[in-house]
Amino acid sequence: MRVSIGSDHAGFEQKEMLAGYLESQGVGVLDRGPENADRVDYPDYAALVAADVAEGAVDFGVLVCGTGIGMAIAANKVHGIRAANIVREDFAPLAREHNDANIVTLSARFVPFEENCRILDAFLATSFGGGRHAGRVDKIMALES
Ligand code: RB5
Repeated sequence: MRVSIGSDHAGFEQKEMLAGYLESQGVGVLDRGPENADRVDYPDYAALVAADVAEGAVDFGVLVCGTGIGMAIAANKVHGIRAANIVREDFAPLAREHNDANIVTLSARFVPFEENCRILDAFLATSFGGGRHAGRVDKIMALES
């Protein structure tokens, strides 16, 4: 499995730690930056990761900012993206099973690293459920046209 990861300044430290965690779990990581904690604008990094996912260069995207909210709003503007802001572990499998989310956005300011690791584990380990969920996801994607 391969993921693209990015953050803003608020998410930088956890982005670095989460990238290391994912690599330790055998996940291929494409780090889209930033490279330091200097102030940046989160939509710039959401766009980079969302493009990787939308173009099929990676399986999933991971975006980290203060809350995860801005990253989700920005990423969801890119066609083909279903980004879910997950701040509790039990929502992570549901975002995959029901919504076929292809990007998870995380909060560095409100969710500890260990909890974000558990969120990532659950998100990446869960498949889309299909069935009754498929038509609903199709209707979401039809909103793009
Ligand atoms: C940066 O101060 C903050 O606005 C950003 O990290 C994020 O929380 C936005 O949604």
